Amino acid sequence: MQRLRLANLAALAVTLLLLATATTHAHNITRILEKHPDFSTFNKYLTLTHLAPEINQRTTITVCAIDNGAMNELLSKHPSINTLKNILSLHVLLDYFGAKKLHQITNGTALAATMFQATGTAPGSMGFVNITDLRGGKVGFGAENNGGALSAFFVKSLEEIPYNISIIQISKPLPSAAAEAPTPAPSQQNLTSIMSRHGCKVFADTLSASPDAMSTFSDNVDGGLTVFCPMDDAFKAFLPKYKNLTAAGKASLLEYHATPVYESMAMLKSNNGLMNTLATDGASKFDFTVQNDGDQVTLKTKIVTAKITGTLIDEDPLAIYTIDKVLLPMELFKAPAPSPAPAPAPEPATADAPSSPKKGGKKKKQKAADAPADEETAPADSPSDAADESADDGNGAVRFNGARYVNVIFVVVALCFGFSLL
Ligand SMILES: *[C@@H]1O[C@H](CO)[C@@H](O)[C@H](O)[C@H]1NC(C)=O
Ligand SMILES: *[C@@H]1O[C@H](CO)[C@@H](O)[C@H](O)[C@H]1NC(C)=O
Ligand SMILES: *[C@@H]1O[C@H](CO)[C@@H](O)[C@H](O)[C@H]1NC(C)=O
Ligand SMILES: *[C@@H]1O[C@H](CO)[C@@H](O)[C@H](O)[C@H]1NC(C)=O
Ligand SMILES: *[C@@H]1O[C@H](CO)[C@@H](O)[C@H](O)[C@H]1NC(C)=O
Ligand SMILES: *[C@@H]1O[C@H](CO)[C@@H](O)[C@H](O)[C@H]1NC(C)=O
Repeated sequence: MQRLRLANLAALAVTLLLLATATTHAHNITRILEKHPDFSTFNKYLTLTHLAPEINQRTTITVCAIDNGAMNELLSKHPSINTLKNILSLHVLLDYFGAKKLHQITNGTALAATMFQATGTAPGSMGFVNITDLRGGKVGFGAENNGGALSAFFVKSLEEIPYNISIIQISKPLPSAAAEAPTPAPSQQNLTSIMSRHGCKVFADTLSASPDAMSTFSDNVDGGLTVFCPMDDAFKAFLPKYKNLTAAGKASLLEYHATPVYESMAMLKSNNGLMNTLATDGASKFDFTVQNDGDQVTLKTKIVTAKITGTLIDEDPLAIYTIDKVLLPMELFKAPAPSPAPAPAPEPATADAPSSPKKGGKKKKQKAADAPADEETAPADSPSDAADESADDGNGAVRFNGARYVNVIFVVVALCFGFSLL
């Protein structure tokens, strides 16, 4: 009986350990290339073009890396970041080619599909790479649409993890008219149509109807712009209040939803603090506080706390995120003042009762202090949603972390128990 239980526990413990380690085996192209300083520029641009996470998600691939010298030559043509993304994605083959396989290709030649081809950006058969074994042990590479020229050659293998990822050096970038074709720069992208297509149509339409705010947004795209656009439900509910604002107030409210710097999600997660907006003008601060709790980034004005719910575009110099609430600046909405009980100090308000035990019980003190602020803002904005949402979210996060923690404890306990029985 005991033996059986012990066996079960041991099996469970082993299973849990295997589950825990399985996820750690995935490759990380950034980390692998960090060991090869000659490829730091290539590595940097895999990150900037957001190709690195796409590479990490795939298995059975070959990355044809080019060294810093060859990369600088490529960069000297000043391709836009989107064009560069196309060019570099042509260097990611969707098949595994280690050094050995490269030198022993069946019939001496093969066509490999690439990530460029897989994105659907490449027209027709463009986006395939021809690999051919040549005389004297050379291996030639050429983009299929390049008139049969094999202008790049295999240099050496940098890292091989069969059959997940092979990273090889080739002598120079693969020329390809299709990949090098200019793609629209962010400044030419239509801000409002990006927003409209992804659940922020009401905000986009409102922005289009305000020429002042619209031109402020457009003027900032080239130098860096991050927009936080409220989702349709939130902005629709806010429209009556918006219509009540003066023309200048309307423009400021819209401009309050963007900042004149590019902020990637990683930057938002690591830089907590005050953020100026397009509406900031000397004494009129129009700022808000960026604060993250785990993976969740929140934007706090004195009146409302909004959460970032999605990314519509994140390509230096332009980022557009969706948020779940309209940001209300205190310069336009002095909401908390007239209400009789604005308790900024985290007093244990009775209204908190249903949700606070869970929060207080498991969450860090800092979050508990935040809770009253959330509750307080709820009436000013959308009645009960806000409080409910923040409570749900907090618990969800706790449960997730808690579950992992419990697993680890369980394995340790199971192992200890097993040994004690031996
Ligand atoms: C290859 O990738 C699979 C799936 O991600 C993983 O389970 C396996 O451990 C990897 N192999 C190596 C040698 O990293
Ligand atoms: C990959 O490695 C880089 C550098 O070591 C690190 O910053 C990044 O977070 C890693 N990515 C993942 C998904 O682990
Ligand atoms: C190799 O060449 C032979 C004869 O031309 C052909 O039948 C075969 O399909 C080729 N194999 C590959 C992998 O292309
Ligand atoms: C690759 O290119 C070479 C040289 O142009 C050509 O002879 C060969 O047929 C091509 N291979 C394939 C599989 O298309
Ligand atoms: C953006 O697209 C909308 C319609 O989708 C159009 O009305 C507007 O003029 C466009 N704006 C720019 C700057 O091209
Ligand atoms: C609009 O302003 C008037 C006058 O200040 C006020 O009575 C009314 O409640 C406001 N409406 C909204 C929806 O805020």
